[in-house]
Amino acid sequence: MDVFKAIKWRRSVRRFSSQKVERDKIIQILEAARLAPSSSNRQAWHFVVVDDPSIIKQIPDTVPTGTRRIVSFIKEAPLVIVGCYSKALTHYVAQLAGHENHLVDVSIAMTHMTLAATELGIGSCWVGWYGESKLRTLLELPRKFRVVALLVLGYPAERSTKEAIAGIPARPRKPLEEIVSYNKFGERY
Ligand SMILES: Cc1cc2nc3c(=O)[nH]c(=O)nc-3n(C[C@H](O)[C@H](O)[C@H](O)COP(=O)(O)O)c2cc1C
Repeated sequence: MDVFKAIKWRRSVRRFSSQKVERDKIIQILEAARLAPSSSNRQAWHFVVVDDPSIIKQIPDTVPTGTRRIVSFIKEAPLVIVGCYSKALTHYVAQLAGHENHLVDVSIAMTHMTLAATELGIGSCWVGWYGESKLRTLLELPRKFRVVALLVLGYPAERSTKEAIAGIPARPRKPLEEIVSYNKFGERY
């Protein structure tokens, strides 16, 4: 699959089959994260691979009760990769200038993982809704780490089509004219 096909074929997958994601595929997905670019190549990231169903089931409980619906699908997922950064490894000078590069770095690495997973026929859903302090307790994450996002992964419950993984219809996107300027803000070609 070329990268454009993976980009177009990817969808947020929230329903998974009971099939476990094989260890070698997990390593391939993590390898895609490892090779991602990072600010001054600091690689301030750490990824916690959660494949223990008893831990996965508790992840939605880290968010406030009334909002669990947003993330309840995680309970049935076979795999969650928690993207973190180490406070000790962030780019101090960049931070002084107001650049939170470590957040960008982890996000790029996690995007690599979504595309690698897509290539392998594995569905993924980025999750930004989690309760960090409860999640940290659940994962026994040392205090020097902060969580950036969760990637929920698994083989899709639905059959894939030529158009999309799991046959999920594309969510709408704004047209390029609305999101791009040339040379100066608001200028068009
Ligand atoms: C930073 C971020 C946070 C997200 N958080 C959640 C979430 O908490 N729960 C969820 O079901 N989907 C979440 N999503 C998935 C988005 O809803 C999804 O990417 C968007 O609707 C576009 O759909 P698509 O990924 O199928 O193209 C998140 C995506 C991103 C990038």
